[in-house]
Amino acid sequence: MNGTQASRIADLERLLRRIAREHAPSALASSLSAEDMVITDSILRLGLDIEIFTLDTGRMHADTLNLVSAIRERYGYTMRVQQPESEAVTDYVTRFGRDAFYTGPELRERCCAIRKVAPLGLALRGKRSWITGQRRAQSATRSALALQEFDAARGLAKFNPLVEWSGDEVWSYIGAHRVPYNRLYDQGYRSIGCAPCTRPTVAGEDVRAGRWWWEQSGARECGLHVAGDGRLVRSGETVS
Ligand code: ADX
Ligand code: SF4
Repeated sequence: MNGTQASRIADLERLLRRIAREHAPSALASSLSAEDMVITDSILRLGLDIEIFTLDTGRMHADTLNLVSAIRERYGYTMRVQQPESEAVTDYVTRFGRDAFYTGPELRERCCAIRKVAPLGLALRGKRSWITGQRRAQSATRSALALQEFDAARGLAKFNPLVEWSGDEVWSYIGAHRVPYNRLYDQGYRSIGCAPCTRPTVAGEDVRAGRWWWEQSGARECGLHVAGDGRLVRSGETVS
């Protein structure tokens, strides 16, 4: 481990301790990505009182959800698995079809709203702050992301502790601490969301190019992360 990496880890641990102390109750929203596994490992190794939850959209890969049991085995911690409201899912599937998100941004955003955004609101009920694994280097829409933000849509403090980390630093942490990770990364995936909306990337593509790849323009974010004024951040824009 080099000096930069050691100081990044020290900063991460200091921030997580501060969140647990000054912004409780807090929760980590984990997509079970490599980034979220780094934060999970830190929280659980330090024994911090920060809840860890995942939004199970009902469309995730088995390899992704398998990490919930891997975390239980490794750390003795049972994550909260937040499901979408079943009536809303049934209504969408009945009216439009299960995979109607391929037809255009409107039905794609509606599916994300039901399966991800509304459940995020449920998972964050009663919290004062939340934590994400977003990094600046992941995409143009994230290039100006701050370490600490105010989530005006939900009235909560929001922290992105890995904002300055590179992908290599994330993987070096995973290797050094032997953190469980999603096996799909070994198959060419670099950013993993719901199975029907994620594909592996090819050389030279943006980390998030495999997400909603059929959408040429418009929002390629799911609506979990909005700008301070509540706007959905769209590709090509930066968060100011
Ligand atoms: S996103 O567009 O799906 O939000 P990405 O997969 O890059 O993008 O996730 C960024 C961060 O959003 C994750 O590190 C995590 O904090 C949160 N997040 C995304 N998907 C989920 C999920 N299914 N459950 C919990 N948190 C999630
Ligand atoms: Fe639906 Fe795809 Fe959004 Fe998952 S990523 S909630 S399947 S549109």
